Amino acid sequence: MRKKNMIILSAVALFALSGCGDAPESSSEAKVYSKTPTEVYQQSCKKCHGDNGEGNVKKKSPALNDRQAEELELDLYDVKNGGLNQSSGTEHDVMEHNMQKLLAKGYDYDPKAMAIYLEKSFYKMDAPKAAETATPATH
Ligand code: HEC
Repeated sequence: MRKKNMIILSAVALFALSGCGDAPESSSEAKVYSKTPTEVYQQSCKKCHGDNGEGNVKKKSPALNDRQAEELELDLYDVKNGGLNQSSGTEHDVMEHNMQKLLAKGYDYDPKAMAIYLEKSFYKMDAPKAAETATPATH
C-alpha cells in the first residue's frame, strides 16, 4: 500500500512539474505588456534617444548604445521606478518624469527585455558619445 502511494505521489509530482513548463518563473511578477520592446522603442524612445540609440545632444538624451544589457537593465529599472527602489542616488529626474508619461500612454515594457533589445540592436563597443563627437578634445 505504501509503495503504491509513493508511486501515485511521484506521478502527481511529475505531472505538476511538467505542467509548470510554460508558466512564468514568478507568477507575482508576471505581467502582460501590450507592446514589444521593439515597438516601444520605435514608437517612443527613438525620437529622443536616436534611431540607433546614439543619443541626441540637442535633446540632452544620452546614448543607450554604449552599455550592455546588464547595465541597461539597471538603468531602465531606475528610470521606471523613480529610483525609489534598490538603486539609490539616481539623477534621472527628467527621464523618470518622461517615463511616467510614457507608461501612462501604454509604452510599458519589461526592463530586462528592453535591455536585451537595446544591446542586440545597438550596442557598440567604444561607441563615441554624441557629446564627445560634437566637441573634440584639444589638449
Ligand atoms: C522626450 C525625450 C525622451 C524620450 C521620449 C525618452 N527619453 Fe530616455 N532620456 C531622456 C533624457 C533627456 C535623459 C537624460 C536625463 C535623465 O536621465 O533624466 C534620458 C535618460 C534615459 C536613460 C538613462 C540613461 C543613462 O545614461 O543612465 C535611460 C535608460 C532612458 N532614458 C531610456 C529611455 C527609454 C527606454 C525610452 C522609451 C520608453 C526613453 N528613454 C524615452 C529623454 C527621453
